[in-house]
Amino acid sequence: MADLALGRRLMERLDALARFSDDADGLTRLYLSPAHKRAANALADWMRDARMAVRMDALGTLVGRYEGASTDAPVLLIGSHIDTVRNAGKYDGALGALAALTVVEMLSRKGERLPFAIEMVAFGDEEGVRFPSTLRSSRALAGTLDPASLDERDGSGISVREALSTFGCDPARVGEAAMSRDAVLGFIEVHIEQGPVLERADQPVGIVTAINGARRLRVVVDGKAGHAGTVPMAMRRDSLAAAAEMVLAVERIAKATADVVGTVGVIAAHPGAVNVIPGQTTFTIDVRSPDDAQRDAACDGIADAIEGIAARRGLAAKVETTHRAPATECDPALISALSEASTRAGHTPLRLPSGAGHDAMAMAALCPVAMLFVRCAGGISHHPAEAISLKDADAAMCVLLDFLRNFAP
Ligand code: HGY
Ligand code: MN
Ligand code: MN
Repeated sequence: MADLALGRRLMERLDALARFSDDADGLTRLYLSPAHKRAANALADWMRDARMAVRMDALGTLVGRYEGASTDAPVLLIGSHIDTVRNAGKYDGALGALAALTVVEMLSRKGERLPFAIEMVAFGDEEGVRFPSTLRSSRALAGTLDPASLDERDGSGISVREALSTFGCDPARVGEAAMSRDAVLGFIEVHIEQGPVLERADQPVGIVTAINGARRLRVVVDGKAGHAGTVPMAMRRDSLAAAAEMVLAVERIAKATADVVGTVGVIAAHPGAVNVIPGQTTFTIDVRSPDDAQRDAACDGIADAIEGIAARRGLAAKVETTHRAPATECDPALISALSEASTRAGHTPLRLPSGAGHDAMAMAALCPVAMLFVRCAGGISHHPAEAISLKDADAAMCVLLDFLRNFAP
């Protein structure tokens, strides 16, 4: 559509969804938060306006169904997540959910039916910021969720189970969220690239070949609290000073291992007083790699370094894995179909790996998956400066629509 109508509609919706935040000064919409509830309610209304049959599953995932040409047609899932990190940009996740809404809205307005049903999915727990592990809602839909993960607690001690009940879901029905694999043709996720490759290649969209695997660790360093003014330096067991050395070890080991990235995103010193030597320090580690064995080797190296630093300083350290998601290959047939759609739209069908994790990693246990990346300004993401252009939003919509109209189940 030369008039960019689809892109304009998508951008309007992205701006509208971005208003649902639990932070007055920025966009923060964590899993099962009040902002997530408000966003899900608004999205459900928009989905019903697009004449989808809408339901919410036991994990808070919104599912909207747009029938195919026959009621027994197989289903193609399209969507992404609507939770965000703290102080987020407005495109990560929301772009994929709203791209699905925009294309269905257009089809239903024309009364156009495809040889398959479309089910739009809006997951709520992809960022995994509130609770230690992540991909909870897409894993439930894929039938691979470990029920024990519902006992994880957030920083205020609220369990997933309790948060689900407050949200209006019934955690006892988690098992019903799983879709049967024989009815599902595949899962398509439109997502910002969150990196610089498409911008450098001057391409609006790209097709994802594979998604890096991720592993999250939680470290607890136990030393001895004490008076900041009276304990001689040589007698201290300062857990924060030890943790600082451990953080640098994470950076050193990740830098030394090709294709591995390592990040310490959260650190807390206890009791957290200016004049008290921290007795305990906790921190998280996020390790990614396209190769799971390489990622695990890096994690083993990091755990060894932490143990060595703790022993040398006379402290204790505990390292536990809180999340693990294997590297995921996208489906070759879907990659080709998306590449052909991109070519028909006049673009170079650039193929690239994803350094970021996505719900598609969990959905790969259920069905073939594919991702359409959209160029984002400076590759910036997980930041308020995240941005896409109207033209690129429209380009992505046209490629998605062309893919759907040519997809033969
Ligand atoms: O952390 C990630 O890679 C994703 O943005 N949740
Ligand atoms: Mn995302
Ligand atoms: Mn993200």
